[in-house]
Amino acid sequence: MNQHLVDEAATLHAGAALGRALARQTAFVTFQGELGAGKTTLVRAALRALGHDGPVRSPTYTLIESYPLSGGQVHHLDWYRLGGASDLDGLGFRDLLAPGHSVMVEWPERIPLIADHADLAVTLTYAQDARVLSAVAKTDVGVQLLAAWMTEIA
Ligand SMILES: Nc1ncnc2c1ncn2[C@@H]1O[C@H](COP(=O)(O)OP(=O)(O)OP(=O)(O)O)[C@@H](O)[C@H]1O
Ligand SMILES: [Mg+2]
Repeated sequence: MNQHLVDEAATLHAGAALGRALARQTAFVTFQGELGAGKTTLVRAALRALGHDGPVRSPTYTLIESYPLSGGQVHHLDWYRLGGASDLDGLGFRDLLAPGHSVMVEWPERIPLIADHADLAVTLTYAQDARVLSAVAKTDVGVQLLAAWMTEIA
């Protein structure tokens, strides 16, 4: 899936659509892209669509922000500052991947061995002042989620 996101509003629209898709299918989703590419913007819109109405802080320093939403827990992580997989042990990362939970990770390339288990891999790239969004499903869950996202985004 490839989408041209002309401005921040387009990123918010895509993120909200992802949130509506995640309401039907929980998943482990990674968000790759350079600094400022729009990863947190996308996640923020998804969380809003999932029913979260407070602020969404970037978990760059806290590593994780968890949101207890009506459809289940949603965990937002940023691995930018992680040294390696052992830094995730204290978080009980495996438990986060429980059924009924969704996990959204920025900077997945910091820990490829864990990121490889994602259901859906999202990439944001700069296109002059705009962005290009691409998404690749890596599991059956990811295929379902991506199909729902494409329906919701249209
Ligand atoms: N499609 C778009 N076109 C232009 N600007 C955009 C678009 N989408 C988001 N932006 C802007 O780009 C910035 C993205 O910031 P954001 O914090 O979401 O990036 P990030 O990828 O999470 O960065 P970091 O790697 O630091 O976590 C914001 O200023 C936002 O307004
Ligand atoms: Mg971010």
